[in-house]
This record gives sequence, structure tokens and C-alpha cells, in this order.
Amino acid sequence: MKSTQLKDKYIEFFKSENHKKIKNSSLVPENDSTVLFTTAGMHPLVPYLLGNEHPSGKRLVNYQRCLRTGDIDEVGDDTHLTCFEMLGNWSLGDYWKEEAIKFSFEFLTGKKWLNLPVEKLAVTIFMGDKDSPKDEESSKIWLKQGIDKKKIAYLGKKDNWWGPAGQTGPCGPCSEMFYWISNEPTPERFDPTDTRWVEIWNDVFMQYNKGKNGKYSELKQKNVDTGMGFERVFTILENKKSLFETSLFEPLIKIIKKLSGLELFNDVEEISVKKIADHVRSSTFLMMDGVLPSNTDQGYILRRLIRTAIRHGRQIGISETNFCSEISNVVINTYSKEYPLLKSNKKNILNEFNKEEDKFKDSLENGLKKFNSLIKTNKISGKNAFLLFQSFGFPLEMTIELAEENGISVDTNGFDNELKKHQELSRTATKGKFGSGLADQSEEVTKLHTATHMLHAALREIVDEHIEQKGSNITPDRLRFDFNLDRKLTDEEKKKVENLVNEQIKKGLKIVKREMSVSEAKKSGAMGLFDYDGKVSVYSIGSFSKEICTGPHVENTKELGKFRIVKEKSSSAGVRRIKAVLE
Ligand code: ALA
Repeated sequence: MKSTQLKDKYIEFFKSENHKKIKNSSLVPENDSTVLFTTAGMHPLVPYLLGNEHPSGKRLVNYQRCLRTGDIDEVGDDTHLTCFEMLGNWSLGDYWKEEAIKFSFEFLTGKKWLNLPVEKLAVTIFMGDKDSPKDEESSKIWLKQGIDKKKIAYLGKKDNWWGPAGQTGPCGPCSEMFYWISNEPTPERFDPTDTRWVEIWNDVFMQYNKGKNGKYSELKQKNVDTGMGFERVFTILENKKSLFETSLFEPLIKIIKKLSGLELFNDVEEISVKKIADHVRSSTFLMMDGVLPSNTDQGYILRRLIRTAIRHGRQIGISETNFCSEISNVVINTYSKEYPLLKSNKKNILNEFNKEEDKFKDSLENGLKKFNSLIKTNKISGKNAFLLFQSFGFPLEMTIELAEENGISVDTNGFDNELKKHQELSRTATKGKFGSGLADQSEEVTKLHTATHMLHAALREIVDEHIEQKGSNITPDRLRFDFNLDRKLTDEEKKKVENLVNEQIKKGLKIVKREMSVSEAKKSGAMGLFDYDGKVSVYSIGSFSKEICTGPHVENTKELGKFRIVKEKSSSAGVRRIKAVLE
């Protein structure tokens, strides 16, 4: 089976059960400043899990690219990636446990579908605690499907509870499916700690809302949120031991090994090969979604991934420069049919890899010399870790990795103190966002979001009608809007854009939401991405702006106050960035 066929089958199965396919969203959550990345298919659906009506209905399916920085240390084994694709189906207040489990079981074992042997499957179920009872219901349903009692394990919150994505929000007990990947006979009894049992799918029963006080209350509706690890299941279907051995990764591993010039790879070198493959692949997708290497937020993670890949490249003897872009080129070829954006952004992506490699290569050599001079001590001090960061461009995590390889530790608190002193980047602030979180739907963000639509419309009217959004990020303090244009805005244009937005704000225009099919939206002249075939919400601001979007927005432009552009600069080749505020 080709990898795309697995996706097609999944979508086909759930469509046959009346699910509508929804889009595969960006790795960078739109209008959500509380999380860095989309870590699960449910992320873009949070407003709907809370009870908002989804334009495509109550049964949804898709595959979603996800990025989990929390898994970065695991990369190098056979089952973990930082960037992976998640096959997911949802019930928004529609079906519940019985159907959700039946669907999962049927897709995994049905002859027409994956046809996996039942004996190799096992499941975990929530054991119950003070917040929620033992999930006997799921257990009965699994037994009814034909799962042996000995293949069911009960675990606590740490393993069998999903969410909330942030501090508060929808969550609930879950039931995870495991598959026996070894060639040894399947043991009679399921032991979830045995790593030959690999988790492949998670059915979450979202029936609670965790409040600010930490208490769980029943949600307005009972939702189902499921996620299947696409690459893991594909590994099983190709009968491979590691996902890096599948046809999906084979060309990638091949080029990395070729570039290294080594004939044989020891275990440590094999890990480097896998890390390079993972990190370059994730970086390629991040740049497809508009992230650029930098010292803050998403850009910092991207920089960390690229620089770690470069260091591992040196470890396995890759001497030529700009090798990341060669590897990235293979990633782009592998995925460009499914992700046309990879093809259209190819030049920029490869260019950014080369720029980052050029920037880092000399300081890597010198930094490694510096690091080696520090190994004699058994702890790298905060000051030295900061020196490596500041003067040699070593992300802290890279210094930690190097230190671990040499059996020493790093004073990370000391590093944080140094960093604070230099007020460069708050690692802890960034770290706080790694987990994930609900869309920030505060009043300030909502207002700035509406203002972003108005800015977009004004730019098209005053500057160039071909202008399109290339990225957006909103915090309670400011909006940030990226758009295509290959030159600076003039001062006059900036003034005119500001004036036009403020004129429209003063008119007291109503914001109206309408749901329609993508083709209707297109016909109506709405702006936005048309990359799937479901229904969409279109928000109109008087007759000034009409855009596809999931909200939230204010009701009337009068609520916005005065709009002011604070900065306009280049973001990447052919892309400008505006920061603006409401006062
Ligand atoms: N949101 C669930 C997960 O990511 C399905 O495991």
C-alpha cells in the first residue's frame, strides 16, 4: 500500500460513515498566541468542541500535520518524530463511545480496510479517579468487538486522559489502541510498558470542561476526538521495524547516508542519521507554513532543529556545506503532491536552509572547540552555556545534548538568569507555550483579529489587489500580519491604509457570519484559502471585507478604537510584515 492510500482509505471509511472531510491546517495555529504549534488534529477544533456549530456538521474527518517539541528527545528510536501526520475523526455532540470504538475497530481489522489481526491488538482504558469513574462502558464495548480481556489494561490520568489543551478547556478519559510490532509471538497478556506494544490510535471521550479552579464540569455536549499516528500505522502495513525504514523515509535516509560517505554506521551514528532526517523534514514543513529561523517562539524551535541537524551532520562526517537543503529537496519531492505549498515555496525553503547553515557553520567549529575545553569540569556553568548560545549560536538544548553525550550536566537555571540579564528571549516564556493551549479568545485578541481583516482589505484596496495573507499572529497587545509584496510600503501608503481602516471603523460596520460551501464562498468574492471541499464560515465587515475564517470577531467595528501601524518590514523573500495596534 502506498502511504497516500492509507490516508485515502481512512477518509473513505469515515466518509462512508457520514463524516465530512475538513482541511489540514497550518502547523502554526492561526490567531492563537497561547500555543506555538498545532500538536493534534483537535487544536483547530477547540471552539467547536466547546459548542460552536461547525459549518461542516457534527461528524468530521481529516489528516492533520502536527508538531510536538515534547517528543524531540525521543527522536532517534523507531517510533517518534517531531512532525507527524495524524488521522482523526470527530463527533461534535453526535455519536459517543459505542460508535467511536466500533469505527476504530472496524477500520483496523475489517477486511475491506486495514485487515490487521485482532490478536495483535491491545487497548488501555481509564482506571477512574476522584474526577471521573472507571470507564467500564468502553471496556464492555471493546470486549464486544472481540478484544480479549487479557489484552485490556487500566491506567490512570497520566496515560488515559487527554486534555485540556491548555490550562482550561475540553478534556476527558481516553482509550488507546496498541499493536504488537515484534516478530516474536504475541504475548497472551498485554503489558503496556513493553515497548514492542506500540500505541497507534487514541479515542478521546471529551465530556468534561476543566475550569479555572481546576474543577471538572460536564460539557454542554459529549464529543469524540480521535487521533491515529499515520507514520506508525504505515510502518505496520509495510511490515517494518522502524518508521525510518518505510518507503516514506527510505529516500531520505539514503541521501543522508550517501552524503556522510560512511560505509558502516554504528548505533550512535544511526541515531544521528534519524535525527537529521526528522529535523530537516520538520523544518521543511515549518518553513512551508511560513516560519523562519529566529531567536523567539516558533523561529527558535526551527533554528534549534536545523542547527541540531547540522551538528549531527558533522558527527557522521558530512563535510559539504548546504547539505540540509539537499535533504530538504528530497522531503519536498516526497510530499509535494499532497502539499502543493512545498513546491511553490521550494526556492525560499532551500534558500533559508542555506542561509542558516552559512550563518552557523563557522561558529559551530569554534563553539565545539570551546565546548571541548569545558568538558574537564563536570558541569557547564550557566555563564558558559550562555556564552555558547550568545557567541556561538548554540541553542541551550544543543549544549544539553552535547553535555549528555559527554556524561556531564548543564546549569540551566544559571543559563536562564544570564538570559534574563540580557533580555534576549525568555526561554521559560517560550517553554510555557510548548504544551499547548486554548485559542486565546480574549477581548483584545478578538478586536485585533477583526482589525486584521480590515488591514488585509485596506492593503488590497490601497496597495495592490493581489495581496494575500501569508501569516498572522495576534497577541493581546498587537496584531502581526504577513503578506506578499516584493517592496517596502511608502510612508504615504502606510498613512492611507491607516486612514482607510480608521474611516471604516468609525462607520460602525456590523460583522456578519454566514456559512456556505467553498464554491459559494469563492463566487461571493471572499478571501481565504480554498484548499478543501467542505463548508466554511465567511465573515463580512459591512461591504468592506469578506473573508473565510473561524472567528472570533467583535460585533461592530465601533468596538475597535483607533488603528495604528507600528512597524512595516521584510519578513522573508517577497513577504512583508506589519505590526499594528488598537488604541
Ligand atoms: N487529541 C488526541 C491525541 O492527540 C486524539 O492523542
